[in-house]
Amino acid sequence: MHGAHDRPVYLNLLQIRLPVAGVLSILHRITGLLMFLATPLIIYLLDLSLGSAAGYAQAGELLHGGLGTIALFGLLWSLLHHLFAGVRYLLLDVHIGVDKPYYRYSAWVVLIAAPLVAAVVAGVLL
Ligand code: HEM
Repeated sequence: MHGAHDRPVYLNLLQIRLPVAGVLSILHRITGLLMFLATPLIIYLLDLSLGSAAGYAQAGELLHGGLGTIALFGLLWSLLHHLFAGVRYLLLDVHIGVDKPYYRYSAWVVLIAAPLVAAVVAGVLL
C-alpha cells in the first residue's frame, strides 16, 4: 500500500547530528579502506628496507619528518581505531555491552583511546 509516508524523504546529511556510535561506525569503514589502499605503499617500504642497508636507511628517512610522519601517524591511528572498534563490534555481536549507557561509553573510549595510543606508539617509533 502506498501513502504519503512512502514518499522519498529529502535528507540533508549536514543537518543530521550523528550519535557517537555512528561516527565510530563511519570511521571504521574509512580506516578499513585507508589501510587497504595503503597496503602497496607499506609493502614497498618493507621491500625497500629489506633490500640493503642503504634501502633500510632510505625507508627510515621517508618515515621521519613532514609527510612521512603524518602518514605514519595516520596509518597507526587507522589501525588502532579499526582494531579497537572491530573488537567492540565483535563483543556487541555476542551481546556484550549492547545496553545504552555502555554502548555509548565504549564508543567514546575507542574514539579517544585510538589517537592517544597512536601518539604514544609514534613517539616510541620516531
Ligand atoms: C587489526 C585487527 C582488525 C580487526 C579486529 C578488524 C575487525 C573488523 C570487523 C569486525 C569488521 C566488520 C565491521 C562490521 O560488521 O561492519 C571489519 C571490516 C573491515 N575491515 Fe577490518 N579488522 C582488522 C584489521 C583490518 C585491516 C588491517 C584492514 C585493511 C588492510 C581491514 C579492512 C577492513 C575493511 C575494508 C572492512 C569493511 C568495512 C566496511 O564494510 O565498512 N581490517 N574489520
